[in-house]
Amino acid sequence: MEFKDVVRKRRSTRRYTGNPVEIEKLRNAMELALRAPSSKNTRSTRLMAVTNLDKVHALGRLRDWGSSLLEEAGAAIVILGDEESSPMWQTNAAIMATILQLALVDEGLASCWVHVGDYLTVNDDPASQRSEDYVKEVLPEIPANYRVLSVISIGYADYTPKPLPEYEGPERMLFVE
Ligand SMILES: Cc1cc2nc3c(=O)[nH]c(=O)nc-3n(C[C@H](O)[C@H](O)[C@H](O)COP(=O)(O)O)c2cc1C
Repeated sequence: MEFKDVVRKRRSTRRYTGNPVEIEKLRNAMELALRAPSSKNTRSTRLMAVTNLDKVHALGRLRDWGSSLLEEAGAAIVILGDEESSPMWQTNAAIMATILQLALVDEGLASCWVHVGDYLTVNDDPASQRSEDYVKEVLPEIPANYRVLSVISIGYADYTPKPLPEYEGPERMLFVE
């Protein structure tokens, strides 16, 4: 697919057909995403593909809002960052996650970012478990020194999302000539 078409086609997609997601397609997208730039070339980001559906669906409970779409997903890729190797680990991880989402479009897959960061499993209960700790409980395979930025929910879209408007107006693009 043309780069411009990939960028235009990407939308956060939250409903999936239930068709299984091929691991080869995940691998292709992950290989491209690993080419993302990183501060001082620290390469602090790691990607963990999860195709075990019990685990993917359990990740849907990482928060009490905005994460239940994972309960329908066919796969997930967890975006991990090593905070010891770079103070910019979150920025590095976000850049890689974005490239990953575009690469997934090129593989014919739909995805949505589900944020973890500093969220709690229950939004209005400060005593509730941290979402990151919950993700690590579901996935004990996550190495100890890695932080969790987000989980990318993946599947085949069961609808065709509308394309984003082409151009919203001049205020977000500034030119100094
Ligand atoms: C940093 C970040 C965090 C996000 N967190 C969530 C989330 O937790 N749950 C969700 O359903 N969508 C999440 N999204 C998706 C946004 O809601 C989506 O990108 C936005 O509404 C624009 O829609 P589009 O991606 O289709 O262009 C997140 C996106 C970003 C970039």
